[in-house]
Amino acid sequence: MREVTLHNPGDFTEWRSAARPLLAAGVPPQEVLWRHAGESGSLFADSANLDPKRTITLPRELVTIADRVICHRDPAVPSRLYRVVWRALDDRRLLERRTDPDVDWLAKMDKAIRRDLHKMHAFVRFRRLGGSEADRESYVAWFEPEHRILRLAAPFFRKRFYGMDWAILTPDARAIWQSEELSFGPAGTRDEVPDRDIVEDQWRTYYGAIFNPARVKIAAMRAEMPKKYWHNLPEAQDIAPLLAGAAARVDKMRETAVSLANPRSDKWRVRGVAQDAEPGDAIRSLEDISAALKGCTRCPLHCHATQPVPGEGRADARIMLVGEQPGDREDLEGRPFVGPAGQLLDEALAEAGLDRATLYVTNAVKHFKFEPRGKRRLHQNPNTGEIDICRWWLDQERALVQPDIIVSLGGSALRGITGKSPSISSMRGKVHALEGGAQLIATVHPSYLLRLPDQERAAIERRAFIADLARAKAMAESLPNTHGNPNAGFA
Ligand code: URA
Repeated sequence: MREVTLHNPGDFTEWRSAARPLLAAGVPPQEVLWRHAGESGSLFADSANLDPKRTITLPRELVTIADRVICHRDPAVPSRLYRVVWRALDDRRLLERRTDPDVDWLAKMDKAIRRDLHKMHAFVRFRRLGGSEADRESYVAWFEPEHRILRLAAPFFRKRFYGMDWAILTPDARAIWQSEELSFGPAGTRDEVPDRDIVEDQWRTYYGAIFNPARVKIAAMRAEMPKKYWHNLPEAQDIAPLLAGAAARVDKMRETAVSLANPRSDKWRVRGVAQDAEPGDAIRSLEDISAALKGCTRCPLHCHATQPVPGEGRADARIMLVGEQPGDREDLEGRPFVGPAGQLLDEALAEAGLDRATLYVTNAVKHFKFEPRGKRRLHQNPNTGEIDICRWWLDQERALVQPDIIVSLGGSALRGITGKSPSISSMRGKVHALEGGAQLIATVHPSYLLRLPDQERAAIERRAFIADLARAKAMAESLPNTHGNPNAGFA
């Protein structure tokens, strides 16, 4: 009898290093006793004096499955896996025999691991720590997977959160992603993770917003999000109150629902205008707009967005920038242009000599329109109906800020400002007088620049974009200042 002691349960490399010489020497499964360190029995790997009699090649699919299945907590796994692999050496089509008891066992074990992985990908919640050395944001999460799957799960989080430092602690081990290097360390404890942080509040806001009471199926929800995960999920504490209020929210949704009629139809437009007759009376400041926006149900976009994103900046700005709609980041943070397009915009403004703090920055549409794709939310352009409905808010902002110059970023902004859909190229390079006295400068959206695949073209377009912003600055300087504030609009 041969004895093998494994010191790192769940470590496929260790198991394979032990199994290989045994397989090569032709040691049959019934002659190998697999133990984990700490179990009673002699604690030494007994692969000495093994004569290799054959070379080992296994179907790739079997290696991939074995790599997962070794993470299962069932103590019989190393031994049973050895038996499957032993048989597969002489039966290359073994995995195709689904009714074979070993193959059936392997498939069940693999399914359990894949399910556990799926849950871990979905239910890990990071909490923010202080900044790390390289000034990258640093996060930590506590998670209790059913099996020893951290090694398998870590690459998913590396890909997803590549740009920040993080650690995932489990009762078996920890995975650490720091300075773009993944390593594994000893078991963690829940106390190493802070109780809560601001990300958690954002996440709960988001969950509360996407929670659709009309679609609640409690049994399905419990199956997907079993209760054992709840104590580590910040949003779980909101589930009971959200469920309790579900019926009332469904009634409210019914009362206030905007039909999904063709957005260009007059019926929808008329309904949108009528709805806002009252709040309009109460709007006297930008703060009033932000407050009133929270109750906006003028179009269906409010149903799925986390929150409306009002404009921000000086109430006496001489230059107003109008974008399209909030993106994913903006939707979560509640502020315009804070994501990748915002970063490009900030750089371009600086190069044009404009200080964002002196401007007013807003969007033609105030709710994020997206299409869920797995766990991602893919941006979708608002249609003209949605832009036209949302113009009511933009008009309020224009009336309050009274900018001398409005810069439209992209086609949706142009539609929001003019109510028409001229091409950007037909409007660009000229200044257009708008009703109410402001001058319009039309340019492209920063996301357009981000999407250009050709670097040379992107550099040319970027220069043209900066030139448009610089033109807005020059115009603001040359026009009489109606605000009495010398700094309102440019640095
Ligand atoms: N794109 C926009 O048009 N607006 C934002 O706020 C962010 C991205």
